[in-house]
Amino acid sequence: MAKLWGGRFQKSAEAWVDEFGASIGFDQQLVLEDLEGSVAHVTMLGIQEILTHEDVEKILSGLAQLKVKAEAGELEFSVANEDIHLNLEKMLIDLIGPVGGKLHTGRSRNDQVATDMHLFLKKRVPEVIGLIENFQKTIIEQAQQHVETIAPGYTHLQRAQPISFAHHLMVYFWQLERDKERFGESMKRIDILPLGAGAMAGTTFPIDRLKSAELLGFSEVYANSMDAVSDRDFIVEFLSNSALLMTHLSRFAEEIIIWSTDEFKFIELDDAFSTGSSIMPQKKNPDMAELIRGKAGRAFGNLVGLLTVLKGTPLTYNKDMQEDKEGMFDTMETVLGSLKIFEGMVRTMTVNTARLHSAVHSDFSNATELADYLATKGMPFREAHEVTGKLVFTCIQQGIYLLDLPLEEMQKESDLIEQDIYDVLAPEAAVSRRNSLGGTGFAQVNIQLQKATDLLG
Ligand code: ARG
Repeated sequence: MAKLWGGRFQKSAEAWVDEFGASIGFDQQLVLEDLEGSVAHVTMLGIQEILTHEDVEKILSGLAQLKVKAEAGELEFSVANEDIHLNLEKMLIDLIGPVGGKLHTGRSRNDQVATDMHLFLKKRVPEVIGLIENFQKTIIEQAQQHVETIAPGYTHLQRAQPISFAHHLMVYFWQLERDKERFGESMKRIDILPLGAGAMAGTTFPIDRLKSAELLGFSEVYANSMDAVSDRDFIVEFLSNSALLMTHLSRFAEEIIIWSTDEFKFIELDDAFSTGSSIMPQKKNPDMAELIRGKAGRAFGNLVGLLTVLKGTPLTYNKDMQEDKEGMFDTMETVLGSLKIFEGMVRTMTVNTARLHSAVHSDFSNATELADYLATKGMPFREAHEVTGKLVFTCIQQGIYLLDLPLEEMQKESDLIEQDIYDVLAPEAAVSRRNSLGGTGFAQVNIQLQKATDLLG
C-alpha cells in the first residue's frame, strides 16, 4: 500500500519491517485525542483563512463521522498505516476525498503526537485525583470507626507503643494527600499545548496557536517549537508521581497482608476482595493486596524505562519517543485499577477490635509509660529507661507483663513508683495521654480527622 509519505521512496519496506516500526497496535488508544486535536487544528486553519470555509466544513464532517465510528469501536486500523495519525488521515481521505489531505497543513506528526499525549493526561490525571480523593474518604470513614480502638504501634515490626488504630490508618490519608497534590501540580505542565510547533521549527502558515489552545482548552502554548516536540517531561512526571503513589499503596498492601494473617488477625478482608486456593480448602488469600504490591513494580519499570529512552536522545523528535506510550498507558491503567480496588478493599474490611485489644494488653508497648512516669518524678530519663528495662527483663523471666508485676517488685528498682502506676500503664491511658500536637491521643486524632475532613471539603 502506498504510504502517505511515500513520494520520495523508490520501494516499500516489507510488511515485517513496517510492523516493527508501527505504533498503531497501542497508540490507537489515542484515537479520540487525535480526532479532537485535528478538529481544533482544522477549525483554526479555517479561522485563519488558510483553508476555505468549504474545505474546513468537509473535513470537520469527515472527522465527526470518524469519531462516531471510533466511539462505536468500528474503525479498522492497519499496520501499513503505521500509527494513529496516519491511519486516521488515510481514513479521512478515503471518506471525503483528496480534500482530507489538507488537514495536515501547517502540522506535523511530531506536534500532533505530543498534543495527543497532553490531551490524554489532561483528561485522565483528574480521574486519578478523583479516585485518590474517593479512597481518602473511605480511609477517613474507617478511621472514624476506630478512634478508640487501641492497637499496637510498631517500629522495626516490633511492638513499640500503643496507638489509636485510626491514627495508623490516617497515615495513608496523608500520603495520598501529598500524592494528590503532586498530581494536581503536574496539571500545570500537562496544560501546555505543543500544537503548531510543526515538525520542530514552526511553520510558514499564518497559524494562530493561541486559538488552537483556546479551542482545546489549554492555558498555555510551548514557547519554543523545538521544546514542544521533544518534551516528554510531563509524562515522566506522571510516571514518577504514579510510582510514588504505587509505593504508598504497596506499603499499605503489605500491612493489609500482614494484618490478615492468622498470626496477626487484626483485620479480615471481605470475601469479595479475597480468593481461595485450588488445593487448600481453608485458604482465604489477600490476592488483591498482593497484586497491588506487585504492580508497583511495573509502575517503577515504566518510569525508569522512559527516563532511559529519553536520556540519549538529541533534540528534537526521535523515533525512540514512540516508546513513551505503552508505559504511560500501562501505568494509567495500573493506577486507576489499583485505586479502585484498594478503596473497595478498605471499605469492606472488618477490623478485629477484640484482637487488637488483647494484642495491646499482652505486650510491653507500655514500657515507655513507666520510663516517662519516673522521669516526671524527677529521675533523669536515661536512668528511668534503665530501671524500666530491668523491670521488663524481670517480667520476661516470669512470663508476665508490666501490669501484672506487684508493686513491691517494682519498688525494688525505684521507690518513686507508687500505686498510681497501674493507671498509667493501662494502654488506654498510654494512648489518651499522648496529647502532643499530631500525637495519637484521642483528642489529637479527632482534631486530625476534622482537619482531613475539612481538606476534602
Ligand atoms: N508514531 C509516532 C510516535 O508515536 C508519531 C510521530 C512520528 N513522527 C515521525 N516523524 N516519524 O512517536
